Amino acid sequence: MPDATAVINLDIEGPTISRHLYGHFAEHLGRCVYGGFWVGEDSPIPNEGGIRLDVVQALRALDIPNLRWPGGCFADEYHWKDGIGPREQRPRMVNTHWGNVEENNHFGTHEFMALCELLGTEPYISGNVGSGTVQEMSEWVEYLTRDGDSPMVRLRKANGREEPWRVKFWGIGNETWGCGGNMRAEYSADLARQYATYCRDHGDNTLYRIASGASGADYQWTRTLMEQINCFGCEATPRTFFQGISVHHYTLSGPWEAKGSATGFDTEDYYRTMVSARKIDEILTGHSTVMDLYDRGRTVGLVLDEWGTWWDVEPGTNPGFLFQQNTLRDALVASTHFDIFHKHAARLYMANIAQTVNVLQAMILTDGDALVLTPTYHVFEMNKGHQDATSLAVHLRTRDAHRRVGDTELETVSASASVKDGKVLVSLSNLDAEEPAEVTLDLRGGGIAEPVARILTADRIQAHNTPDASAAVAPRPFDALKTTDQGLALTLPPHSFVTVQASLT
Ligand code: AHR
Repeated sequence: MPDATAVINLDIEGPTISRHLYGHFAEHLGRCVYGGFWVGEDSPIPNEGGIRLDVVQALRALDIPNLRWPGGCFADEYHWKDGIGPREQRPRMVNTHWGNVEENNHFGTHEFMALCELLGTEPYISGNVGSGTVQEMSEWVEYLTRDGDSPMVRLRKANGREEPWRVKFWGIGNETWGCGGNMRAEYSADLARQYATYCRDHGDNTLYRIASGASGADYQWTRTLMEQINCFGCEATPRTFFQGISVHHYTLSGPWEAKGSATGFDTEDYYRTMVSARKIDEILTGHSTVMDLYDRGRTVGLVLDEWGTWWDVEPGTNPGFLFQQNTLRDALVASTHFDIFHKHAARLYMANIAQTVNVLQAMILTDGDALVLTPTYHVFEMNKGHQDATSLAVHLRTRDAHRRVGDTELETVSASASVKDGKVLVSLSNLDAEEPAEVTLDLRGGGIAEPVARILTADRIQAHNTPDASAAVAPRPFDALKTTDQGLALTLPPHSFVTVQASLT
């Protein structure tokens, strides 16, 4: 049986794992917003002001820290003033990116902010650079966050909201290298500076401006942005134009043209997917290294505001709606990403899974009034104790826990750990599809008591949840833990994710 040892120094604290690494993304795409979050006030599905309550309840259990909206590619076609005021009078548009369907703008600024309040999460607004104007974006910030009396404040109050909202996260464009305008990095960096200038901090609301960044391993894009980041003439104290830089990376098992089925895949596809998932480590390292050259103090955050798996849409569904099932494979992609995110906690400030409901690697799938929690949902739930915890470095000796996949050596055990409020949380994944893995947790510099473990696995890597079998992949207690002189020993079944929580002594 392949075996691995994870050495964890309980008394050597690493950087804080930003809770925003567990962020989410909801775009006007397919059935994410309409049907997923929003059913309208007249729907028979229980709702509050049109927002479906079963989805809210399920997501509250994840403690989601932020929600990015309205896109994605849609954000660069979205004109926020079309989404305020009486719903029946709102102008309509065509969602040209996603299915060419008509958008009625019934879910707009007020509805999104109400959703964030119900979820107890922070809004992350993605502003339109591709087809909008500086004035339009500047006025949206004013509408949302300014107090007192001003044209946009009067408009907000006329629409029923007296108090300003608090909004911290503000995206300046999305994928400006592609659907957000097909720009060159140099031009995009100049626009980011221009837009950032007019996205004002009103009163004590301080924005965290996120410039549209690279696709995958395009480190030159990040370099171009970092070269342009300082605003020496802004105020008495020089500051950066933007506080974060984004990057997007999706996990596939092959080329874009042949993504394959979400459920109908074989073991080879599975291993190729795991290699692709692990690539995020190299990508984050590459961008962080470039950023370190310009920002040694690590004041600028790296923001992976789109990540996740991308498969062919489910047969019979609109190809523009990106609706896919979600299996144990997706769950292990997520758990591996989180281990890598935790390792990059010093620079990586935010990450947003694409997308929360009914699109790509979703937490929740709905069908009419039915709701299913996906295997990925359970990874977010099992890992939530890492949010805002102090990371603990995990030194893994994986010995024979490897698989040859093409010309890549895939490490099949993945792990990360953190400590918060006197509790240590260790996450462990066995990515091997066929073999169990014997793992020793060699804990140094402290002791632990009362370990409690949970496991997420199933008989097949293709296992997934449906309305008729909603708990085919669900967490269960895992008691096959042995306390040893070194720490703990456990055997991870093939294709499994395990969390161990214990008190520090
Ligand atoms: O998440 C789906 C799409 O993927 C987003 O709209 C876009 O930003 C990315 O290409």
